[in-house]
Amino acid sequence: MSATTESGLPIEPVYGPDALEGWDPTQQLGEPGAFPFTRGVYPNMYTGRPWTMRQYAGFGTAAESNRRYHQLVEAGTGGLSVAFDLPTQMGYDSDAPLAKGEVGKVGVAIDSVEDMRVLFDGIPMDKVSTSMTINAPAALLLLMYQLVGDEQGIAGDQLTGTIQNDVLKEYIARGTYIFPAAASLRLVSDIFAYCRQEIPRWNMISISGYHMAEAGATPAQEVAFTLANAREYVRAALSAGLDVDEFAPRLSFFFVSRTSILEEVAKFRAARRIWAQMMRDEFGARNPKSQMLRFHTQTAGVQLTAQQPEVNLVRVAVQALAAVFGGTQSLHTNAYDEAIALPTEKAARLALRTQQVLAHETDVTRTVDPFAGSYAVESMTDDLEEAARDLMRQVEEIGGAVAAIERGFQKREIEKSAYAIAQQIDSGERKVVGVNAFTGNGEEEPYQPLRVDPELEAAQVERLARLRETRDGAAVTRALDALRTAASGNDNVMLPMREALAARATVGEVCDALREVWGTYQPPATV
Ligand code: 3HC
Repeated sequence: MSATTESGLPIEPVYGPDALEGWDPTQQLGEPGAFPFTRGVYPNMYTGRPWTMRQYAGFGTAAESNRRYHQLVEAGTGGLSVAFDLPTQMGYDSDAPLAKGEVGKVGVAIDSVEDMRVLFDGIPMDKVSTSMTINAPAALLLLMYQLVGDEQGIAGDQLTGTIQNDVLKEYIARGTYIFPAAASLRLVSDIFAYCRQEIPRWNMISISGYHMAEAGATPAQEVAFTLANAREYVRAALSAGLDVDEFAPRLSFFFVSRTSILEEVAKFRAARRIWAQMMRDEFGARNPKSQMLRFHTQTAGVQLTAQQPEVNLVRVAVQALAAVFGGTQSLHTNAYDEAIALPTEKAARLALRTQQVLAHETDVTRTVDPFAGSYAVESMTDDLEEAARDLMRQVEEIGGAVAAIERGFQKREIEKSAYAIAQQIDSGERKVVGVNAFTGNGEEEPYQPLRVDPELEAAQVERLARLRETRDGAAVTRALDALRTAASGNDNVMLPMREALAARATVGEVCDALREVWGTYQPPATV
């Protein structure tokens, strides 16, 4: 590989004192837990509390996923992270024609508040923080979570967790969008205002670089396009009349961690510093919590191989170490078999054990930010910060993240990076153990992937039919009409949406009502 970082920046074979000539630790570093938070967002970091071990999981019906969540809580996971199937993520019911074959496949099928009740059955919602990877219909899943919390006698201000709620990156890299950008930003602002009143400890957005990284973005692109999206969300909330220090403390982020440990540590440090300075100097945030970039990390799935899958255990351990050295608040470690199928229970447990070894058998939790002052990592942090700021300037020159998305700018830049990586692998310049190097015939016993019961789709469709028969149809119709009225005007849509969901309107019905008013996003013609 040439002597550059994953971001294409020069990497010195030997860094020495000259690398930090004129470098002022009081400006560039600051103290842990203090502006610009380069060294981490809390003064004592893991010496006070280890990161949250938060394993992304969910498949099949709510009952099956509920069983997996109980297994994960028993195995020691500190927070839940819900994966939803594609029909739920796209705002369709399990019996919609578009849902055929996808029900319960890549996540749990949630059609109504009844499924949400089953999903969290026996889970103490006031004691466990729950992340939900849901974007376009994030408002619905949050409200159903709150409705189920109400049923358990838990008030909104006792609920903790996160909804991803980041539709801009869906237009760029993941694709589970529904509404046009303006309507999506309006809905995000409605959620911000609602959470401030009703669920104040909830992180109402997880602005994500992960999926752009998995699509091929370099570390510098990952930081730049994520923070450019974040800037757009802050602007939308401010123009909706919210005060920056009212909502910014509950913004959160989500990044990848790759096997390139040193650059990943530099990436996290640079991201914290850019965000702190942007929030203070551009948006006038005064509350330190508004300036703290708190983030979740998932190890890079795109680096896992289907060949010699056990080798992925080593990759995930290295990637997890990068996230921990980088000061993550919450971590998901991929299972070694995820390049092949949904993780088996054993693979999911091994993934969690990887974090437990790092937290309890190493010394990485005994001191804060061990790379501080490192010639190499501090130089790489400065270089990466400069590269990210340059890309953010390019997005601003186009007119901001939404304008750049509509021009296909971020998508095109990421595709270029992805193509370069693919060429390096094809040429052998970039080694992938087991794929284009060291492909010896290991003694691999046949791997048995997890199988999702194909009958579950019929069972879920049957549940939906029963729900429609037993609910008060007139009440649902009235509630959906009220929602359309709110969506057509400027009123916050969250309360009428909650009424509809409480009356057992389905995910598809609520999203269809909003589609009727707001239309759907049309991607730019391939430029
Ligand atoms: N000193 C003082 N206080 C500390 C502390 C320390 N050392 N460590 C933690 N705390 C406090 C925090 O302040 C916080 O208190 P608060 O609730 O009053 O704010 C509490 O302890 C919990 O700590 P964190 O907030 O740091 O940790 P959480 O785990 O609760 O939250 C987060 C982390 C990043 C802020 C949050 O947004 C989160 O959990 N995100 C997870 C997102 C996620 O799981 N996404 C999955 C995506 S998978 C996906 O996209 C699909 C696939 O395609 C990849």
